[in-house]
Amino acid sequence: MKSKILNILRSTDTYISGEEISKLLGISRAAIWKHINQLKKEGYQIDSLTKSGYKLISSPDILSFDEISPFLKTKFIGHDILYFESIDSTNTFAKSISQNCKDGLVIIAEEQTKGRGRLGRTWVSPKRKGIWMSIILHPNLPPSEAHKITIITASSIYTTLSKFNIETKIKWPNDIIINEKKVCGILTEMNAELNHINSLVIGIGINVNTEVEDFNEELRQIATSLKIETGEFIERKKLAAELLNNFEKFYIDYIATKDIKPYLEIVRKNSAIINKYVEIIKPNEKYIAKVIDIDDDGQLIIDKDGNIEKLISGEVSLHNMYNK
Ligand code: BTN
Repeated sequence: MKSKILNILRSTDTYISGEEISKLLGISRAAIWKHINQLKKEGYQIDSLTKSGYKLISSPDILSFDEISPFLKTKFIGHDILYFESIDSTNTFAKSISQNCKDGLVIIAEEQTKGRGRLGRTWVSPKRKGIWMSIILHPNLPPSEAHKITIITASSIYTTLSKFNIETKIKWPNDIIINEKKVCGILTEMNAELNHINSLVIGIGINVNTEVEDFNEELRQIATSLKIETGEFIERKKLAAELLNNFEKFYIDYIATKDIKPYLEIVRKNSAIINKYVEIIKPNEKYIAKVIDIDDDGQLIIDKDGNIEKLISGEVSLHNMYNK
């Protein structure tokens, strides 16, 4: 009902009376007043005049379905959004429901209290400062292809940020970088049988309006936000919607053609690591190697003291990129 009232308020530039809204929706004026108060609590600025009624003055920068959907052009992704003011982790929640929910369901939170990064790391997710979301998918793919969805995600984030005039680099397989600092991370998790993915959760964390003070001393060396880099506040809802639009376009195309090349091309062309030396961290060893390329299957080709090796995305973390 709240969404319907919001749509009515959005449909006009002038005041609309409580009586008119009540006729349109078939509910009492008292009920309308209650919903309007709820909307005001959520940050909507609504002017009310005794004789003329209500007028929407401004909407908050929140990531609810009501705020994102006007900018969505998707066929199925984000048609349902579960929105939380605060949650432990959108990925943890998404995983708990992923088997029994609609394809393309999106979980978004304004804040995560236990945001998770790859390899058990913590993901700092302060309130209303970033995009902390998880997309649940049920692709008809074998588990061996899941890493390609991370490539699609990274290239869709790159493409989206370019449309906002923000130039980034992609650090295979799952980081988006500006000025050598991380601005966004992807955490892909799956539930699978031997030959079939039951569900895939694509967790995306973008530091949008995060301030330097939100990061601790250690993170300040390696993490940044779009606001820190551009000096500008960015409306998260437009960015989130545009990202879902681009992601879906790439995803539908990949599922139809099974051709990952166009997306690999984006990752290669804008790579933060090709031709650089990186520290490679595996569960039981650490070493430095030169990154040569990414192969057509999405694996990283490295040169370790003259020996060519291929790395798959699940097993490594890359640190300290540098030229030699
Ligand atoms: C990484 O770079 O290590 C991955 C970071 C992924 C963070 C996102 S924020 C939304 C989703 N929920 C989580 O707990 N993590 C992912």
